Amino acid sequence: MHPYIGKLAVLYPGQVDIQPFEGLAARLSVPLYQSLEAASVAETFFLSWREGGLKLLDKSMLNKGGMQVEIEPRPGEQRSWPAPKQDALAHALGRKTRNVIDATTGWGQDSLHIFRMGYQLRCLERSPIMFELLTDGFQRLAQLDWMQNLSLSPPELVAGNAIELLANLEEAPDCIYLDPMFPPKRKKSALAKKSLTVLRDLLGDDEDKTLLFDAAMLATAKKVVVKCPDDAEPLGGKPSDSFTSKLVRYDVYLK
Ligand SMILES: C[S@@+](CC[C@H](N)C(=O)[O-])C[C@H]1O[C@@H](n2cnc3c(N)ncnc32)[C@H](O)[C@@H]1O
Repeated sequence: MHPYIGKLAVLYPGQVDIQPFEGLAARLSVPLYQSLEAASVAETFFLSWREGGLKLLDKSMLNKGGMQVEIEPRPGEQRSWPAPKQDALAHALGRKTRNVIDATTGWGQDSLHIFRMGYQLRCLERSPIMFELLTDGFQRLAQLDWMQNLSLSPPELVAGNAIELLANLEEAPDCIYLDPMFPPKRKKSALAKKSLTVLRDLLGDDEDKTLLFDAAMLATAKKVVVKCPDDAEPLGGKPSDSFTSKLVRYDVYLK
C-alpha cells in the first residue's frame, strides 16, 4: 500500500510558480491542493513552500509557520566553522574521526552540527518526505554567506534505506552515527519537541533499528555512535563508552 495515501498532500498557496509544487506532489505520489480550505480533507500532513523554505505542517499548523529543516545552529552550538569539537557528541565521535555517515538524518539537526564541526559528512535518509525537506534545507544552507565565503558545499544527501546503502559502500567511514526513533520517553525533554513528535506520527518508530545497528557495525571502519534517550536500553548491548548530555546519551561501539 502507498505509505502516504490519505495522510499527506502538497498545498499550493497561489501567486507563485506552481511547477515545484506539482513536481513535489508527483515525486511523492500525493494530491496537490490549491487552497487551504480544500485542506479540510482526509490528509493530516501537508508540505508547502512558505517564506522561502519547504515546510511540513500538520492540521494544527495550517495557519501558522510549519516545520522546516533549520539551518541555523541550535542554542549552545557555535556559529563559526569549523566549530570547536567540545560537546558530548564531539567526544563520542572522537578526536581521530575525519569522516562520518549519518545514517538517520531526519531533520538534519545532528548532521548540521557534525558538519559545522568540520567533519566530512554523508547523510542517509529513507523517508521520501524527510528527504525532500532535507534537500530544500541543504539548498538554503548552500546559499548562506558563510558557506559561500568559505567555498563549502552542503553534506552529500542520499535517499534510501541505510541498511542497504551501508552494505554497499565503496569506502568504510571512520564513524557511522545512528539516531533512530525510540518509543516516547517518560521524562519531558528536548526529544519530545514538536518536530520529532510529528516525525513519529508520520513515520512511526524505527522498528528495524537493531538491523540498522548490525549493518552499521559491519560497514564502519572504526566505530558506531548511537544517540538515544538517557534512560533507553543500549541498542547494541554494552557500549565501549558513553557520553551523556541533557537527557540524551551517545553510546560508542568500537569495531
Ligand atoms: C529520530 S530521527 C533523526 C533525527 C536527527 N538525528 C536530527 O537531528 O534531526 C530518525 C530518522 O532516521 C530515519 N531512519 C530510520 N531508520 C533508517 C534507515 N534504516 N535508513 C535510513 N533512514 C532511517 C527516519 O526516517 C527518521 O527520519
